[in-house]
Amino acid sequence: MKRIAVLGSTGSIGTQTLDVVRHHPDHFKIEAMAAGRNAALFLEQVHEFRPRKVSVQDKEVADRIRHQLPGDVELFYGDEGLIEVAANQEAELVVTAVVGSVGLQSTLAAIEAGKTIGLANKETLVTAGHLVTARAKEKGVMLMPIDSEHSAIFQCLNGEAPEAIRSITLTGSGGSFRDKRRDELAHVTIEQALNHPNWSMGAKITIDSATMANKGLEIIEAHWLFDMPYDRINVLIHPESIIHSFVEYQDGSIIAQMGVPDMRVPIQYALTYPNRIQNQAPSLNLAQVAKLNFREMDYERYPMVRYARECGKAGGTATTVFNAANEVAVALFLQGAIGFLDIERIVYQLISKHELIAVPSLEEIQEADRLARTEAAAIL
Ligand SMILES: NC(=O)c1ccc[n+]([C@@H]2O[C@H](COP(=O)([O-])OP(=O)(O)OC[C@H]3O[C@@H](n4cnc5c(N)ncnc54)[C@H](OP(=O)(O)O)[C@@H]3O)[C@@H](O)[C@H]2O)c1
Repeated sequence: MKRIAVLGSTGSIGTQTLDVVRHHPDHFKIEAMAAGRNAALFLEQVHEFRPRKVSVQDKEVADRIRHQLPGDVELFYGDEGLIEVAANQEAELVVTAVVGSVGLQSTLAAIEAGKTIGLANKETLVTAGHLVTARAKEKGVMLMPIDSEHSAIFQCLNGEAPEAIRSITLTGSGGSFRDKRRDELAHVTIEQALNHPNWSMGAKITIDSATMANKGLEIIEAHWLFDMPYDRINVLIHPESIIHSFVEYQDGSIIAQMGVPDMRVPIQYALTYPNRIQNQAPSLNLAQVAKLNFREMDYERYPMVRYARECGKAGGTATTVFNAANEVAVALFLQGAIGFLDIERIVYQLISKHELIAVPSLEEIQEADRLARTEAAAIL
């Protein structure tokens, strides 16, 4: 029985993680759970999974749910609550599925407490990859990727020597606007941007997929997870999302991981590794798919991928600022305060004037993150 804590239980990854647990009560037990402000769903989840510790985003939500919790559940709230759930004694694996760099401190707390990390919250690695990976190494903690591309790479790398690898390639569907030209993007709506062709995900990552900032974040995530130089991480547009990513070896062999696009597959693999058990996902029928398409990544059409790569190569606080500016810009777009192309304009303005700290401390990262958020909001 693996004991699990879920950070962000009410979100897209969180609910799918609970669905995996629901189908395998003999394999997994939820020990602790944290969510933001969706009190109704959170209460339902707590009554179904009976964790011992729970946390919500703030005191107001905590006060609303306090008297509706089972008597033996300990309730926390705020950043400290998230940390309490992440570092709780009972769980051995923590799924980090909150959205944004708000997940950094709780991820570090879980590492400090020696938990295996099921890592969905990619912004954590983008904002402070060197700190998170160094601490995980020191503590002997495994970072199990949940992002489908990184889970694919992890599976394709299984057991091979690092020097045998020529490159890794992250595939990307191209997002909601993959068939639109750049000049058609100025007036696209929030609803259009949220309509992803292959995946049903949270709002922020769906917009990140439309701008392809998501692929940029994933390049940086892959750099840290697999200790891979940026010039050996490629991106390929693959509209069907069947090949989730692949590794090319020195002898020209390519090993790819394929399957239907269903996040419960990589989530479950992170929970069961190194074992595999059956799941609810349908089998992939290649005869029915019949044809897989690929096209080159266009860095002019999708400048956010280029910016992310440049920030990744610059290192230090450059990726922190890229991430923070993007988080603010996406939130503004989702509020209807800016247009779609303003997202990349805000990010570009911030990263181009940033004064880099090459090897920042946690405090310097937090300060760069805070400043970038203030400045990004001020551009409006
Ligand atoms: N969705 C996918 O298919 C997918 C795939 C690969 C990677 N990822 C990554 O996984 C992460 C989560 O994505 P998602 O799509 O699941 O996001 P989402 O649906 O927006 O869910 C975010 C979760 O975080 C919670 N949350 C937000 N702020 C919080 C705070 N301050 N304290 C505690 N909880 C907080 C939300 O709670 P409330 O809703 O209760 O407010 C919700 O449970 C992101 O980093 C994303 O890039 C997602």
